Parts: sequence; C-alpha cells; structure tokens
Amino acid sequence: MRHLAQTSPAPIGLEIERASGCWLIARDGRRYLDFIAGIGVCALGHGHPVVLEAIARQSARHLHVMVYGEYVLEAQVALASRLAALLPSPIDRVYFTNSGTEAIEGTLKTARKYTGRAGWAAFDGAYHGDTMGALALAGNTSFRAPFEPLAGPVLHLPYDDEGALAKLDQTISAVVIEPVQAEAGVRIPSVEFMRALRKRCDEVGALLVFDEVLTGFGRTGKLFALEHFGVTPDFVVLAKALGGGLPLGAFCAPSVVLDTLSHDPPLGHITTFGGHPLSCATGLAALEFIVANRLAERARHSGAQLLQQLSELIDSKQVHAVRGIGLLLGIELTSATLAQRFVEKTIAGGVIVNWTLNADNVVRLAPPLTISDDEIKFAVGVMREALAGSSVP
Ligand SMILES: Cc1ncc(COP(=O)(O)O)c(C=O)c1O
Repeated sequence: MRHLAQTSPAPIGLEIERASGCWLIARDGRRYLDFIAGIGVCALGHGHPVVLEAIARQSARHLHVMVYGEYVLEAQVALASRLAALLPSPIDRVYFTNSGTEAIEGTLKTARKYTGRAGWAAFDGAYHGDTMGALALAGNTSFRAPFEPLAGPVLHLPYDDEGALAKLDQTISAVVIEPVQAEAGVRIPSVEFMRALRKRCDEVGALLVFDEVLTGFGRTGKLFALEHFGVTPDFVVLAKALGGGLPLGAFCAPSVVLDTLSHDPPLGHITTFGGHPLSCATGLAALEFIVANRLAERARHSGAQLLQQLSELIDSKQVHAVRGIGLLLGIELTSATLAQRFVEKTIAGGVIVNWTLNADNVVRLAPPLTISDDEIKFAVGVMREALAGSSVP
C-alpha cells in the first residue's frame, strides 16, 4: 500500500478477494452487501453472466487496435446506435471517452467551439469530476480552492432556484446540471425548475447539458433521469454504468453540434483509449439486459420499498430525513459526526454505504439494480442496528 497513492486519510481499506451478485467477499472470508455498487457503476451487480460473456466474446475478437475515430469498430458503432435510439431526439451522436470527467471536458470544449462563447454555468452542490474544467464547475469551494486557477469563466448558480436563472446571459455557452445531485446529498429538483432552465437556455442561446453520469441506466427508476422532467437537453453526459463495469464515458448531442469537433482544426479533440471496444461491447450487453429486463422499473419498485423501510428510522435525535428517487437514496443524519459513525457501524455490520462529498451529514445508498427484497431487508436491519450503536453525545 506504501506505493499506492491515497485519496483520503481514512479509506475503507477492505481487501477484496472476489465479488458476486450484490456481494463483496473480503480476504478474511467476510461477506459485505454492496449498497453503493462501486459508486453507481455495477448496475447488474458483480460477475453478471451477460457481462462476463460479452468480455469473453469481444476479447477473443480484438482489443485495442487504433486511437478513437480512425477505424470502424462494430462494438462502438452498435453501442452508439443503441444510445441514439434510446436518447431523445435530436440527440443522435456519441463521442466516447474513458471516464465521466473526460466526457464533461469534451462537452465544455464542444459547447465553447459551437457557440463561440467562453462562459459555462453550473450549480451549488454540483460534482462533475476532478479535471481542470469539470472541477471548475464544482459546487463546493473547498474542493476548488487548492487547485485554482481552474478553467473558466464559470457562473455558479443556486440549485433548484428558478429566480436565479435570470443571471444566465449570452456569454454562457453551456449550463451543466445533474438532474439529481448525488454528491450534494441526493437533491431532487422540481419539474418546474428544470423546465424553466430549459426555457432560459433557449432564450439566451446556451446549450443545456445533463450530467447523467450517475443517474443514467435505470438508477433513478427511468432509463435516463431526464424522463422525470419532460425536458430534452442539448447534451447528455454518461459514464459509470455505461461500460457495464468497465471504464467508459460518453457525451451525446445532435450531429450538428458534435460535428464541430471534426474540423477547424481536425483532430482538435482526440483520445487514444476512449470507446475501448471491450468497454463498448460490455456496455451494450449490460444496456440490453437493463432494457429487456425492465430494470429501471424494478429500481422504481425496489427504491420505493427501501425508502418506505428507511422512513421508519426517522426520529428527532439521529435521522432527520430520508429521500430518494429509484435506487438513489440519501439518509440525512443530524450531524456529520453521526453520519461518519453510522457509516463505520453499517460497514462493520456487513453493508457497504458511504457519505456524500458535498453534504457530510448525508449517507448515500445506490445498490445494484438487481438487489433483491431480502437483501434490502437485511441492509435496513443492519442500518437500524448501526443507528442504535452510533449515538453521539
Ligand atoms: C455526476 C457525476 N459527474 C461526473 C463524475 C466524474 O466521473 P469519473 O469519476 O468517471 O471521471 C461523477 C463521478 O462520481 C459524477 O457522479
């Protein structure tokens, strides 16, 4: 571990031996229910046969053969066509990247070039990744400050506040928003706000970008969270579950917008590994399974059940509120210290949960979409016991 860079002074530090279904098996033989799905990646859980079979098939055929965009690769073409069919019209083109933050960077560049405007806008509480452009959009100043100057200019607006939208003007190329903010403590905006945002973007000629990196592929009870609002953005940014467990990101937009990347100059935005054929083949297999087995609908039902069972834990001393949409839920505790203790006790009890970056008193739940009723019951039981053992003086 001395040679592995760390991102926090207190990592969970679980030594993983293997993983199967919704369970992680540690080196010491203990089993843990994965109630965060690798932070929203493992929609089908671990070791799903559909995913393993796609990996075997594609790797026997070919792996990396050329940088993105030069050859015709069936795995890329098939996944892009499927996404274009599932996303709302006129979004019909996909640029594949390696990760979510890289897809955000590509979006920021494309919006700037397409509109000829420099500015971007984003929201308080937002998390879009950690590269210099994506981090500039972050809604938490303490994460931005040590790395400034970042890319910009960025206009930061309050989330879910219709009144603030008047600040958007003709200097803005793109407004980037998560249709549900996960890292801000699972915040669900109103339909009215999202519609007003679309209207304001149209008025000032700014492109509207939905960051569905976490909310895509059934997580919120719809295949894409945009379906909750009846709003069509100009860009949809995807990653996490997109690759079926392998690294893959994408920014998707109408051809007329994405075509700007192919000229003046050509090769102005390129990537070596973006759209790796193995990730695309696996992602397509996972996506077809999600669609065929109506996992978004299942997430809606399981999420409602989980929310109902969790709401029995609300009390004035420890749990302020629980909220959620599909299988993305937040438990708001009465303090950050309590949240930390609750997370430790829940993990010790055999259920993996974690807190959120921008709301330290909220614990986020995002289990695989395939989670069973019994597994939900088990997790809530562990959380109930964890609360009993977490009291903070
Ligand atoms: C909403 C959202 N956008 C972007 C990102 C960045 O994605 P990645 O970690 O793949 O770069 C994340 C990662 O957690 C995210 O949750």
